[in-house]
Amino acid sequence: PALFAPSRENSRGFDITDRPVRDALLQSRDSELQDLAPVAVPLIAASLQNGPAEDVANPATGETVGQVHAATPAQIEAALASAQPWTLPVSARAETLRRAADLYESNAPLILGLLAKEAGKTMADAVAELREAVDFLRYYAAQSESLRDPARGIFTAISPWNFPLAIFTGQIAAALAAGNGVLAKPAEQTPLIAHLAVGLMLRAGVPASALQLLPGDGRVGAALTRDPRVDGVVFTGSTETALKIRAAMAEHLAPTAPLIAETGGLNAMVVDSTALPEQAVRDIVASAFQSAGQRCSALRCLYLQEDIAKPVLEMLEGAMEELRLGDPAQITTDVGPVIDAEAHAGIDDHISRAKAEGRLLKQLPVPPQGHFIGPAIIRITSIADMKREIFGPVLHVATFPADGLDRVVAQVNATGYGLTFGLHSRIESRTDTVAGRVHAGNAYVNRNQIGAVVGSQPFGGEGLSGTGPKAGGPEYLQRFTARAVPLSIW
Ligand code: NAD
Ligand code: ALA
Repeated sequence: PALFAPSRENSRGFDITDRPVRDALLQSRDSELQDLAPVAVPLIAASLQNGPAEDVANPATGETVGQVHAATPAQIEAALASAQPWTLPVSARAETLRRAADLYESNAPLILGLLAKEAGKTMADAVAELREAVDFLRYYAAQSESLRDPARGIFTAISPWNFPLAIFTGQIAAALAAGNGVLAKPAEQTPLIAHLAVGLMLRAGVPASALQLLPGDGRVGAALTRDPRVDGVVFTGSTETALKIRAAMAEHLAPTAPLIAETGGLNAMVVDSTALPEQAVRDIVASAFQSAGQRCSALRCLYLQEDIAKPVLEMLEGAMEELRLGDPAQITTDVGPVIDAEAHAGIDDHISRAKAEGRLLKQLPVPPQGHFIGPAIIRITSIADMKREIFGPVLHVATFPADGLDRVVAQVNATGYGLTFGLHSRIESRTDTVAGRVHAGNAYVNRNQIGAVVGSQPFGGEGLSGTGPKAGGPEYLQRFTARAVPLSIW
């Protein structure tokens, strides 16, 4: 290839607005899912008896999707004892990861079906997630080819349910690309997708000693962060869990073992009086309610300049009426369920309190069954009123006066989080004065604030939102090598 030819392209995914493409995809998805009874088991290098099975539920319908056998203590010990770095030459490792990416793409209908059934993903979200997973595999494969430093050893990879394929795959792909062995602990809510993904990576040629799957809840994760045979931990999930992991690592792992943590956020968007209201409203709806607000990047607190607040809120409430809630497997659904009963109860409680205090401005009705939360708007005076991340389709709205932007920036920074930030303004200099001064890993101007693209928008936060380096960016792999410089406050 020419010297400056791109080393890879991002996955094209599927254009589900193209009817023939969409119909063919839905048909193959439904035929793959027919009679499917998926079972997630530990995939470890040794052969040991599985523990008891538990049902995995569909968050939209409550129906059983499949079963999971959590890793037993004996299986965890066997995985730790047999874990090996991946000692293949780098070009062969990269080729294997690219083969895995191809296998993900050729298994798209099944993957998309499981993302809907197990994780409640709408078709649009599922397609985007599959693309992101494929992009991570190919991006880290390409990046690894210029990596000069040796692997660190064995990484524990612990992931959340809200990107059960993309984040799960991204962590593993990065650790493997750098030559490490991986002990992968998926979220307890989404073991079936994880099992499918690891199966495809093994089929692509990753050796069983370099990639082992250990399903289970936080106790399995905890065991894998407190064993000195582990050389580093890559984690995505809540800030609270990251702090527990840091404490466990400090006690049990070598002092040089890195923690790469991507955590939660209290993400704000500022809309000033020069913004285009239609564009702002479209981007607010996507940022706050797409994926039922279950993205770490999602908009939680909208700051509207006082003189435009009323018309923008009216338009926003009108736009919300267009959202269709329902079974994510249906192509017409915009907003699916939240992940489980516990998440539902916590978000519902937050909305009920706001309602009792007269601060609930709007909430959409929900389907009769399943863990649905109607997208809601709650009035607050500033982001300081938000004590914690509400991980669902709930938008908090505050207003600010024309001369109040500096105070808004100070309030946003005072939360201590720093994940995403959005600005809608037609005053060009505000990009520097506002977006540039807010502590946020990813700041977006005049667009929505979700859906970072691997390779072009490296994603990750600062402060309580994570250690860095950013996933899908050029510095990420270095952290998985033996010459990683400790660079975080964690
Ligand atoms: P969580 O922290 O409850 O769980 C994440 C993972 O940690 C799960 O696999 C869980 O089993 C495991 N775990 C729980 N306790 C553990 C322990 N003591 N030791 C080791 N592992 C343990 O988070 P969640 O509810 O699955 O995910 C939602 C959270 O993730 C939100 O806060 C969200 O903002 C965050 N998130 C962040 C990013 C990012 O890139 N910054 C991306 C997605 C999600
Ligand atoms: N990377 C995901 C996003 O940007 C979390 O929305």
